[in-house]
Amino acid sequence: MERNVAYVICELNDIPSRRARGFHLMRVGEGGTRRPWPIVVVRWGKQVLGYVNKCPHNEVPLDWERNQFLDPNNGTRLMCGKHGALFDLADGLCVDGPCMGQRLEPVLLRVIDGDICLSGVTLVEDDEVLPDEEDA
Ligand code: FES
Repeated sequence: MERNVAYVICELNDIPSRRARGFHLMRVGEGGTRRPWPIVVVRWGKQVLGYVNKCPHNEVPLDWERNQFLDPNNGTRLMCGKHGALFDLADGLCVDGPCMGQRLEPVLLRVIDGDICLSGVTLVEDDEVLPDEEDA
């Protein structure tokens, strides 16, 4: 079961509006196993959206150039750099490309006191202290 902990990813203002940024996180899975968990965060005004940075087509990162996540034509969809699949920002649905109809895996984000915070999973924190230890 995932714990109800919010992790600060960055400040809201670290990501300009209508831009996306990738983060390389480590997630703690069942049995305490740790695995890389890359995500992409999109900021749209005061709203933030997050998805696991893995294309449902070939399970590769979306950004083939670092932090190039948005469709260069109009910047209103996420785009996979490998074969050009386009994903709706609001729900991660692939609307064009080889994985049309499939979705990016959503990440639960909220803005709390000007910080973008992630919840719903257990992360390995920078200093390798797990939330249980920090809360004690
Ligand atoms: S790997 Fe993303 S569209 Fe093919």
